[in-house]
Amino acid sequence: KHVAVLMGGFSSERPVSLSSGNACADALEDVGYRVTRVDVGRDVAAVLGELRPDVAFNALHGPYGEDGTIQGILEYLEIPYTHSGVGASALAMHKQQAKRIAASVGIPVADERVMHRLEVELIHPMDPPYVVKPVSEGSSFGVLIVHEDHTHPPQSIGSDDWPYGDHIMVERFVHGRELTCAVMGDQALGVTEIFPIGHSFYDYEAKYVKGGSKHEYPAKILPNIYQKIQKLSLMAHQALGCRGVSRSDFRYDDRFSEDGEVVWLEINTQPGMTPTSLVPELAELAGYDFGELLTWMVEDASC
Ligand code: DAL
Ligand code: MG
Repeated sequence: KHVAVLMGGFSSERPVSLSSGNACADALEDVGYRVTRVDVGRDVAAVLGELRPDVAFNALHGPYGEDGTIQGILEYLEIPYTHSGVGASALAMHKQQAKRIAASVGIPVADERVMHRLEVELIHPMDPPYVVKPVSEGSSFGVLIVHEDHTHPPQSIGSDDWPYGDHIMVERFVHGRELTCAVMGDQALGVTEIFPIGHSFYDYEAKYVKGGSKHEYPAKILPNIYQKIQKLSLMAHQALGCRGVSRSDFRYDDRFSEDGEVVWLEINTQPGMTPTSLVPELAELAGYDFGELLTWMVEDASC
């Protein structure tokens, strides 16, 4: 089979996508696929129309690659592609809409509202602590935590060079442990606990700079919490209509009771895909090495 690996693109997450894409392309070659690496530009429809690969392996992250845009082009061209389709991608990329759908099937989420960034800049939109997040970004770009002792909202959000769009989600800050769980088809894989090292949360550097975080998988949490996280991840994947692989991120506050509070933060329909990314690690734990995981994804592709 001829697989076109789509990577790069024009979102803030371009560098992350290039590492996902090249890692996947290398491994797909190792397991015997004919691979073409496509650095996605404005001419991608023409390039793919010419190439006519059997499958497009989508290794893009962020706007244009994770929000239904490229998926629409692939539908139009009738090229089977990996991961979620147009509708699920668009819904999942919008953090507030994704939360509304998740909440509608009983998944616990934190209170939030979406505001224009110039409104957020003026007065605290809710009592601190809260988190501000660009409503449609990934890799923690533009995420700021506003703590109890902050007298003003973060001023950077109002500046002219704020690059992450005008729509900001302001969300109650949930204390606690950082957990994540991958879904592969109709199966929830394991749960990982993430420990940011020298960072207050799992921000961009903690995610991608070597030594910025430690992953513990399977997470050392109570079995009933482990199973609950798996169940909620599969519910979110299904409620949003996702396909292939996804990853749901959670906070788990166990300060006051062992059962604690589990809060679903978001789903990532195009999760990071280097061999040391979270999803490949959890697939390995479930018995699929990187090549086997990618083979499953290619064979599961559709349009
Ligand atoms: N947005 C990054 C790639 C992730 O969710 O893994
Ligand atoms: Mg994300």
